[in-house]
Amino acid sequence: MSALAITAQVAVIGAGAMGAGIAQVAAQAGHPVKLYDNRPGAAAQAIAGIDRQLGRLVDKGKLQGQARETIIGRLKPVETLAELADARLVVEAIVENLQVKQSLLRQLETLCADDCILASNTSSLSITSLAAGLERPHNVIGMHFFNPAPLMALVEIVSGLATDPALAHALYKTAKAWGKTPVHTRSTPGFIVNRVARPFYAESLRLLQEGAADCASLDALLRDAGGFRMGAFELTDLIGHDVNYAVTCSVFDAFYGDFRFQPSLVQKELVDAGRLGRKSGQGFYSYAEGAERPPASVLQSAAKVEHCVVEGHLGVMQPLLDRLRAAGVSVTERAGKGLLRVGDATLALSDGRLASQRAREDGLSNLVLLDLALDYATATRLAIGCAAGTCPAARDQAVALLQRAGLQVTAVADLPGLVVLRTVAMLANEAADAVLQGVGTAADIDLAMCAGVNYPCGPLAWAEHIGVDYTLRVLDNLQRSYGESRYRPSLLLRRSNANGGRLHD
Ligand code: NAI
Repeated sequence: MSALAITAQVAVIGAGAMGAGIAQVAAQAGHPVKLYDNRPGAAAQAIAGIDRQLGRLVDKGKLQGQARETIIGRLKPVETLAELADARLVVEAIVENLQVKQSLLRQLETLCADDCILASNTSSLSITSLAAGLERPHNVIGMHFFNPAPLMALVEIVSGLATDPALAHALYKTAKAWGKTPVHTRSTPGFIVNRVARPFYAESLRLLQEGAADCASLDALLRDAGGFRMGAFELTDLIGHDVNYAVTCSVFDAFYGDFRFQPSLVQKELVDAGRLGRKSGQGFYSYAEGAERPPASVLQSAAKVEHCVVEGHLGVMQPLLDRLRAAGVSVTERAGKGLLRVGDATLALSDGRLASQRAREDGLSNLVLLDLALDYATATRLAIGCAAGTCPAARDQAVALLQRAGLQVTAVADLPGLVVLRTVAMLANEAADAVLQGVGTAADIDLAMCAGVNYPCGPLAWAEHIGVDYTLRVLDNLQRSYGESRYRPSLLLRRSNANGGRLHD
């Protein structure tokens, strides 16, 4: 089956935030689009809103006035469902309620042609359940856009148990023709993005709960070292804690209480208090008039450091040496196990153990663990965690060395896997399990996380970059430290580690 012909009639049901956006996307691609909402007048209002949006693009010189008129001319508000009978593709974006959506689909089956595609924009309901009991369940499919639909590239094409694979391919091609980045996925809780992204929020929430550092510092680390657009606290403040917490609870329940998805008491308390984030004026941060975001904490050292010793290869941290040399620090290299020595301090990349545990097990004194950075050549900040008993002077020398490399140093409590490392390891773990369970291919899952939530790198590609063996070691150590199934490594990571460390085909 090929993509839907550009002349084919599209219908969008529900003229709220998502429906209006989807209608705009389809009309911009060239389709005639009918928009229906059961609130009288809502469809016409939504089209007027689209017109205003397009007007802003015209003002900015990004769209021609003529194109605006053509697009608006393709959008038709309708006041009855019966007027959608000639649609070749219907996308519903009505209230997120299984019974209401099922009843709508039943009506559409009786109204529309036998081969009309019935797509749902649901973000949490099972496509298999939506299709159950219909005459033609093979025509039902998920077409999950992200908010705002005209701007966000990703569309998850979600197949239920009965969905015709040819239809999934046709809709995939259609989404591409609409200028989107589609991925195939199966009807499983959270599909790809809302499942794989859970650890991004969960690990920061847990670090906060365990006193790792304050919100501003943890957010800054995910941005400045991890390369993420936003940290978890500023992002959940933006999404709204009610919405983000509800998604976590729904995925947790759908997986029968698997602790990997356990909701956070810290976030629940915000919801209970009505501190929903930006929209309520207060979340982790205050959005009151004139409120300023607290700064991330930074360690300052006045110690003079001119020389350091590298023992062995530093792995992904190796670019740090170039930064040190460029800053005039002399670097002596000798054989060893990937340690960096300065004065009395020993620095090493975290491997998911507590610094205190590793210092004891490996016989290292004054151990300062370093966090993962997306790119050590360009990162501007790095977390450190010190073993108990590390003397202040040694820590000062470690900080001074990192300062010489141009890094801001943020101290976090001695917790396993520090901040970026445990977040990335857990994202990769979830992505690996999703591949293992056939939710999507490795390529599609990485693509979805980049196009849907702007990750700087797909979690699986990231695990390959730092090494699947290393990712697995970090997870094993996290699991040992916490003694919780939450950190159990995916079987896929174990299997690929035993098989050359490749996660992509
Ligand atoms: P919304 O509340 O802004 O809009 C829903 C619209 O549907 C309203 O205008 C309402 O009058 C209409 N409606 C409700 N029941 C109807 C019915 N039986 N027949 C016709 N129209 C009906 O909601 P929003 O945010 O646009 O979400 C719509 C769907 O998209 C939901 O399934 C949601 O889970 C999903 N979604 C939402 C995203 C978001 O960020 N808001 C992102 C991706 C998916």
